[in-house]
Amino acid sequence: MSFKKVMVASDHGGYRLKQDIISFLEKIHIEVTDGGCDDDEDSVDYPIYGEKAARAVVSKKVDGAIIICGTGIGISIAANRVKGARAALCDNAEYAKLTRLHNDCNILALGGRFIDGQTARKIIFAWLNTEYEGGRHEKRIKMLDEIEAV
Ligand code: RB5
Repeated sequence: MSFKKVMVASDHGGYRLKQDIISFLEKIHIEVTDGGCDDDEDSVDYPIYGEKAARAVVSKKVDGAIIICGTGIGISIAANRVKGARAALCDNAEYAKLTRLHNDCNILALGGRFIDGQTARKIIFAWLNTEYEGGRHEKRIKMLDEIEAV
């Protein structure tokens, strides 16, 4: 498994799903860091949590991250502004598997207002248990890094 240490972070729109995911990850013995937020009573800003999770990943404090906002869109855009982040918004397990195989996705984004806990667990299970394929995809990952270099 590629991911032994995982940060899970969300805004208020993803808070409930985050709590559910943390319990799931702990049950399957993943070392979890809760990157916030701390409740869903106050409105908070998803860029803060997307950036925090992405920086933890690229600095190798964790192996990967799961980020959640209402749609999963804003927080994935935020994470992808950090150099080295490859965040992918997935709403099914096949996408999660393919983004690991082809994109070496290091950050999984989920929409807390659009998927339930059971669907999230299936997506996460696929993401955690699929290794990057390398090979023909390596050139394209390097091309992503070159975009960041400009
Ligand atoms: C917060 O209301 C909402 O905008 C946020 O959770 C997310 O969906 C943004 O993309």
